Amino acid sequence: MTDPYIIQRIHDNLLKLRMFSVESVIDSQLEQAVTRDVSLVSVLDQILDLEVKSRRDSAIDTRLRLSCLPIKKTLNEFDLSFQPSIDRSVFDDLQTLRFVHNQENVIFLGPPGVGKTHLAIGLGVAAIEAGFSVYYVTSAAMIEKLRRANLRGSLDRSLKTLGKYKVLIVDEIGYLPMDKEGAHLFFQLVSRRYEKGSTIFTSNKSYSEWGEILGDNVIASAVLDRVLHHSITVNIKGESYRLQSRKKVGISFPPPIREDHHV
Ligand SMILES: Nc1ncnc2c1ncn2[C@@H]1O[C@H](COP(=O)(O)OP(=O)(O)O)[C@@H](O)[C@H]1O
Ligand SMILES: [Mg+2]
Repeated sequence: MTDPYIIQRIHDNLLKLRMFSVESVIDSQLEQAVTRDVSLVSVLDQILDLEVKSRRDSAIDTRLRLSCLPIKKTLNEFDLSFQPSIDRSVFDDLQTLRFVHNQENVIFLGPPGVGKTHLAIGLGVAAIEAGFSVYYVTSAAMIEKLRRANLRGSLDRSLKTLGKYKVLIVDEIGYLPMDKEGAHLFFQLVSRRYEKGSTIFTSNKSYSEWGEILGDNVIASAVLDRVLHHSITVNIKGESYRLQSRKKVGISFPPPIREDHHV
């Protein structure tokens, strides 16, 4: 005689095993097996596949949430033809995430609006999808974070946390100059991550100007020494994408001066 509690037990056990996706489809799948003569092997294959996929998706969602990315941008959305200074083979190589496996840094340099943040985030999203931990922070926010940790006496813990991500994105280096303490904290972060994980930097300033940003040429060269040791630099020389979209809709920038005296 069939055990009358068997279905209930299957549901209970699936919930205990936290196999929520399987639990939600098991009834319909079993019904299909009976009514449509689907083999049990194929039912098993389908429900396990569903569980694996849904666990993968929820792990990606969690990593995306923890990454603090300000917006989701993908590499697919990046129009490479608009930016001919970016070598297609370098772009393709970055997409393979080889740099993450090799603990190499990536530095996007270029003027505002050329897609530095977009590319950094796109690589971050690709890394999250491939199973790596990612964290995004602007250079100013990171220094502020470390400064506060230093005041609380927990600098080491903060550096350790920032050191553990497989990919750390430090956006917008150079928008604000750093003071002495800021430069020193930045150096400590770079040292902590050296040869341990990949860091993606973006900056609107060339390397020769990093001395100015850090306010100290000695610290700047110590930072660059470590950052550039295993690294890929992408120097973007093109036009601002923001400006180009404005032009497309007919808004010139800066706005034209009204020539009222002509009327
Ligand atoms: N080549 C591109 N293809 C598609 N969108 C782009 C491209 N370059 C920039 N953008 C978009 O233009 C805006 C500005 O780019 P952003 O990455 O913030 O520039 P940057 O960080 O260099 O100042 C963003 O919305 C970005 O998604
Ligand atoms: Mg930016």
